[in-house]
Amino acid sequence: MSSSTPPPSGGLFRTKTVEQSIQDTEEPEHALKKSLSWWDLTVFGVGVIIGTGIFVLTGKVAKENAGPATALAFVAAGIVCALAALCYAEFASTVPVAGSAYTFAYASIGELPAWIIGWDLVLEFALGTAVVAVGWSGYVRSLMDNAGWHLPASLEGPDVPGGTFDILAFILVLVLTVILVLGMKLSARITGLVVAIKVTVVMIVIVAGLFFVVGDNYKPFIPDPVTPEAGGGWETAPLVQLMFGYEPTNFGVMGIFTAASIVFFAFIGFDVVATAAEETKLPQRDMPRGILGSLLICTVLYVAVALVVTGMQHYTRLSVSAPLADAFKDVGHPFYAGVISFGAAVGLTTVCLILLLGQTRVFFAMSRDGLLPRFFAITHPKFGTPYRPTILLGVLIAIVAGFTSINELATLVNIGTLFAFVVVAFGVMVLRRTRPDLPRSFRTPWVPVLPILSIAASLWLMLNLPGETWARFGGWMLLGIVVYFAYGRGHSRLGKALTGGKAAPR
Ligand code: ALA
Repeated sequence: MSSSTPPPSGGLFRTKTVEQSIQDTEEPEHALKKSLSWWDLTVFGVGVIIGTGIFVLTGKVAKENAGPATALAFVAAGIVCALAALCYAEFASTVPVAGSAYTFAYASIGELPAWIIGWDLVLEFALGTAVVAVGWSGYVRSLMDNAGWHLPASLEGPDVPGGTFDILAFILVLVLTVILVLGMKLSARITGLVVAIKVTVVMIVIVAGLFFVVGDNYKPFIPDPVTPEAGGGWETAPLVQLMFGYEPTNFGVMGIFTAASIVFFAFIGFDVVATAAEETKLPQRDMPRGILGSLLICTVLYVAVALVVTGMQHYTRLSVSAPLADAFKDVGHPFYAGVISFGAAVGLTTVCLILLLGQTRVFFAMSRDGLLPRFFAITHPKFGTPYRPTILLGVLIAIVAGFTSINELATLVNIGTLFAFVVVAFGVMVLRRTRPDLPRSFRTPWVPVLPILSIAASLWLMLNLPGETWARFGGWMLLGIVVYFAYGRGHSRLGKALTGGKAAPR
């Protein structure tokens, strides 16, 4: 341990040293296999980033919040993510251990903040997986309908009139759980193939769609602000408008930011790349490449898709469930629409898979530290995967995806992720001060200016989310604090080590 390691403390802000985090991963029973390269990570990133956000939310947001300026909303959300990515990259290359922002926070700010972030990430990934599974189910049903096969309405899911249980979403999550239990390499290979299909479909939308763009559809590019018909109660109005006493509106310049806070969902995933740090061969070099590379590719594709789709069809007429495919139907090309639906259905599979993976890795890291039962921290003797949390969470998420109407949950996922960004940016600044000696193969530029900008930008998007989302997020975090004091604090391995006790038995 380095001479400048801070003295241990037994309080809520006790930190696990970076050396300790890395050492824990070297205990054979708790070790994950190191098999991923920077290329795997980039494919991994694109695999999880492009999903429901671009395939579904683009149409909804263009129609309800921002019109053709949705492209600008993608730029705004992309900038917020790029700032966060530069902080994530430094952390991921310094602390190459499973658990993403959770591990970073543990090494920098302290145990309670780390717990809070881990709890927050469990929410983000679990609900994110469920949201995408249900989006996938919608596309698959639309393909089945084309082929003349129809599910009974009751098995189409709670979002459909008369539906109660989404059998397709439920089955998808269970199948993906099995794949993850069998091993990382298998899932990375499947991911590679699926990502190729998905990117091809997105390119088809951009290139083929360009021929159908009509300049008039861009007028007005930023539609005038309008008051929502429902009057906009506290539940649905962006918090920032409530705070400053504005009458809530859609469209206009404020609408671009409301749209950005929603399409932000389309970027979620680059942070998941960081959760695979421990399974990367050369994390110091490959993590930053993987994270920044996948983010850049996706931002360019999103802006292009948003411009093409709002140019093909006037924003007021866009479909909210399958906007990319329906825009092609609208210009008389149902064949392209079918191909796009197929690509979307295939593509959403990897998104779901990787979100589920990120989720189990955070849970695994928290169990390894004793903050959750250590039972979940034993890897599979043959496959080397954290199969216990994978199975537990996979089954729970399958049930949630099957039974829950998840429209509002996407915003809950966004607020959780943005909160994680705030903690990571803060952590970069803290670790620079407390551990300036650590080797960092990637250094965030302009510290502390850039992390401060990242915090401000993430908070701004959070403020553009509805009041109801804030209330639910607060409820979940409060529950997390109760669990920490009731279980995690007393069972923490670090806490036991610092107070001279033995680490909890496995
Ligand atoms: N970014 C992922 C999506 O758009 C979560 O579905």
